[in-house]
Amino acid sequence: MNDILLDVRDLTLDRGEKRILDRVSLTLAKGETLALVGESGAGKSTIAIALMGLLGRSATTSGTARFDDQPDLLSLSERGWAALRGRKLAMVFQDAGAALNPSFTVGRQLASVLRRQLGLSKFEARSRAVALMESVGINDAEGRMTAYPHQLSGGMQQRVMVAIALACNPDLLFADEPTSALDVTIQAQIIRLILEQTRARGASCIFVLHDLALASQSCDRIVVLYAGQVMEAGPTEVVLRDPRHPYTRLLQSCVIEIGTEDLTPPEGSVPPYDQMPAGCRFSTRCPRADARCAAERPPLQPVAGRDLACWHPEDAA
Ligand SMILES: Nc1ncnc2c1ncn2[C@@H]1O[C@H](COP(=O)(O)OP(=O)(O)OP(=O)(O)O)[C@@H](O)[C@H]1O
Ligand code: SF4
Ligand SMILES: [Mg+2]
Repeated sequence: MNDILLDVRDLTLDRGEKRILDRVSLTLAKGETLALVGESGAGKSTIAIALMGLLGRSATTSGTARFDDQPDLLSLSERGWAALRGRKLAMVFQDAGAALNPSFTVGRQLASVLRRQLGLSKFEARSRAVALMESVGINDAEGRMTAYPHQLSGGMQQRVMVAIALACNPDLLFADEPTSALDVTIQAQIIRLILEQTRARGASCIFVLHDLALASQSCDRIVVLYAGQVMEAGPTEVVLRDPRHPYTRLLQSCVIEIGTEDLTPPEGSVPPYDQMPAGCRFSTRCPRADARCAAERPPLQPVAGRDLACWHPEDAA
């Protein structure tokens, strides 16, 4: 298919002895939104950071990540990354308060991105910055240009971060739990804003989410991760209506039992890295596990309209 924007194959990432990501594969078409879900430590942020070229030297990777006309993001030089980051790939971080520079006005921060990345004049950058602030729902954008980050609410700061990320019309936006520092009513507004703005630009978006209900409402596709392995992936509607992986079922049952929409960690815990099973990493907690599961990694393969990595899938709901 030629409308595939991102095609990640067998992304494996080691930090010293720890295998943080274990042959992660995922695809994303142009204009699609994808949710990465899974418990804390599953590797969601690491995937986003690896695909933004922000890993640093302590990590080693293998696998490939084809993006648009780039044959492999993972083998780009720092110079190659600099040409893509901010222009074709952008990221909204979890905590806008920490990501914005407290010493400069938000207008200056936005305008400087536009000047640096698009080569706009001071005057052009300023008027484009005002228009961008308006497009992300900031009232009195002209007046707010001279505000410092601390003079804005958390929701407003996050809108500024979205404006900065969208400044150069990226083809792919990563939003790593973009709302978890905000209160619930503002969270939905920010997610909606990111969706509207990426869709209006025909861009794709990868959301890192803790909230299955939000994922089901807002994302076309979902990837369920456990301890750095993809367990189940496919159209959100198919996966969440009828999960076939024991881990996806467990996640869903926790949400239902507790009666909240947040992903509350299920019973048990992820084993330490030096005790990870060689096969399915979920085998230490899975009610269906047998000796083969612990020893042999199940391949990610198509089952009932989604991709599934499991030797003993659940029956249809
Ligand atoms: N800079 C780092 N150095 C060493 N280990 C790291 C680093 N960043 C992450 N890790 C480890 O990698 C694993 C995956 O972490 P990651 O932050 O990607 O998980 P996550 O799914 O985003 O979790 P959360 O939901 O808590 O944000 C964890 O075991 C974490 O301890
Ligand atoms: S492969 Fe085995 S341990 Fe892993 S989820 Fe499937 S049944 Fe459970
Ligand atoms: Mg994270």
